[in-house]
Amino acid sequence: MSNDVSKDLKWWETATIYQVYPRSYQDSNDDGIGDLKGITSRLEYIAGLGVDAVWISPFFKSPQKDFGYDVADYCDINPEYGTFADFDALIAKAHALGLRLMIDIVPAHCSDQHVWFQESRQSRDNPKADWFHWVDPKPDGSAPTNWLSFFGGRAWSWEPRRQQYYLHNFLPSQPNLNHANEAVREAMMDVARFWFDRGVDGFRLDAVHTINGDCAPFEDNPVNPDFEVGPLPQDQQPFFRQLHDAAQLNQPSIQKFSEAIRQVADTYDDRFLMGEVDGDNDDAVKVSQTFTQAGRLHATYNFDLLEWDGLTVDGMKQAISHAVDAFNGTGRLSFAFSNHDVPRSATRQLARLSVSEADQQALQLLLLKLEISLIGSTCIYQGEELALQDIDDIPLDRMQDPWGIEFAPAFAGRDTCRTPMVWEKAQPNGGFSNANDTWLPVAERHLERAALDEVKRPESIYNKLAEFLRWRKSQPAMMQANQMGPISGGPREIIFERISEAQTLRCCFDFDTLTASFEEI
Ligand code: GLC
Ligand code: CA
Repeated sequence: MSNDVSKDLKWWETATIYQVYPRSYQDSNDDGIGDLKGITSRLEYIAGLGVDAVWISPFFKSPQKDFGYDVADYCDINPEYGTFADFDALIAKAHALGLRLMIDIVPAHCSDQHVWFQESRQSRDNPKADWFHWVDPKPDGSAPTNWLSFFGGRAWSWEPRRQQYYLHNFLPSQPNLNHANEAVREAMMDVARFWFDRGVDGFRLDAVHTINGDCAPFEDNPVNPDFEVGPLPQDQQPFFRQLHDAAQLNQPSIQKFSEAIRQVADTYDDRFLMGEVDGDNDDAVKVSQTFTQAGRLHATYNFDLLEWDGLTVDGMKQAISHAVDAFNGTGRLSFAFSNHDVPRSATRQLARLSVSEADQQALQLLLLKLEISLIGSTCIYQGEELALQDIDDIPLDRMQDPWGIEFAPAFAGRDTCRTPMVWEKAQPNGGFSNANDTWLPVAERHLERAALDEVKRPESIYNKLAEFLRWRKSQPAMMQANQMGPISGGPREIIFERISEAQTLRCCFDFDTLTASFEEI
């Protein structure tokens, strides 16, 4: 019999969500690229961990300039990832195993290969002419504003056919959709209905703070007075020279999108909308509050533990307090220490906390227990359950991430956390693929932590995490309320209480002994 004590909360308020990066999970047809069938074949492994949901990064039709975050058709599957039959089989098996399935929708921009953009760029008066942000040049021919792209360079590119610029907050091949146009919003709602009808339980909504609605009049961003070109790799990109929230990002009209998609979600049972949001400096929490007001998204994905260079214990405390102060008593936030955009937590936190390599697995388990013990949901990234570290030696000619390629060698980009999962040490490419070559190299060092080998090892992080997740489900303080007391503890400790009517649990995370302890008080 299950000893799961959860009752009143919605599933997503306490969910542990396992993120799969489809290109790197499991290849089923020997082309060196992970695919949907591959994921389906590994669902028992995911379910065995005891997580509640799987979130799959984009697998839609796409030229893969930004590895799926540049969508050419929101309602089609990229052939290299499989077919609708493969997707239906995946979702059916996930549900049979008790896993919810979330997918990643990218509402802010699409690929320049999408028919919407192909049509829009032809002239100033075609039926899709107003589906993107087309703006005349300044009298001297230059771009309408000083806005920069996240991936380096200007956020404007020139279209000779229209003699106008179009806006892209990421790559030039990712034009921003014009959400001031109701037809665009409606098209996105059709996308949401399409996937809900196919049975998905929720969406991770990509970069919703970068949706552009009513931009006009287009105004320059002010300079960021705190910007310094420092030794840190992310400062290689000039994006942070400007403050964006006044004009370019987090425009109030974005909320028309959140409200519309919530209305769609509410016509189905128990679906979940989690928005990836950010803001200038410390504003991310305020932005999250705006996005999660009544009638908008259910929750937002909190970036504060994802700091590129890792966080000190004090930094973690501040990040957690800042978010929890705003959301205590709710499940409207999701914490994560790793994803497909930043170096893995095992790598950056190890360096940041000066923990020795020998203690790396203990640190990883501690970080996992910490984030899962916080209020709200948690997103863990494939490989965190194995305490995988990044590899740092991907040669330039094997790099794939356009952002990394732009700033190499000063900045390694995001390939280091996207290398293929390894399953069995004794298999070719660690069991990821039988191809001679895989899209990114398999990390040699990961072979010692191959997933199925670790399942067999009782002391592995996989098994300890599974044990922790099972235990957590029996704790009313973790499952029946999203209430936390203030954070305390010495310089290398994080201590707080989780509180429900039935139980108060003192949770203590010690970064000297690298142990977590839980005590009912
Ligand atoms: C999000 C994704 C990232 C992508 C970007 C543009 O931040 O996580 O991988 O490059 O949006 O879509
Ligand atoms: Ca494949």
